[in-house]
Amino acid sequence: MDANETKLTSILTAHVGQTGGLITGLRAAQEAIGYLPSETDAIAAEAFNLTRAEVKGVISFYEDFHREPKGKTVVRLCAAEACQAVGSRTLQRDVEKHFAVKSGETNASKDLTVEPVYCLGLCSCAPAALVGDRLVGRADVESIARAIENRRKAGA
Ligand code: FES
Repeated sequence: MDANETKLTSILTAHVGQTGGLITGLRAAQEAIGYLPSETDAIAAEAFNLTRAEVKGVISFYEDFHREPKGKTVVRLCAAEACQAVGSRTLQRDVEKHFAVKSGETNASKDLTVEPVYCLGLCSCAPAALVGDRLVGRADVESIARAIENRRKAGA
């Protein structure tokens, strides 16, 4: 059993018997490891007396769960209607070009992930982005780059 498997087993079994324990356990595991590696399915299935398919179904259902490590900074670009109306598609293309990473992917140096999101509740300041945990209204490449730089300076 490798270090990740040991950690997964410990975290997941700690949530057995709790209401919503599978979800809570998966969230805690992802928080600790950074993602949910494939071995999660078998470990969670055994711990919660489920099939691997059931665990896989839960992981794939919730957008917050991810199977690959994300970059140190995650930039979420709103792709919902209010933001589309004021140029979010252009912003996405500009961001992809400027940071050399496609939406839905992580860059080669593993420090940046760009992904779509559907409404950040900042429609009045569209187009909106979320850089780490910081909302950016009327976003453009420059404001997103500044927010990334501020995160880096803050040690995030
Ligand atoms: S539609 Fe983009 S923040 Fe609501």
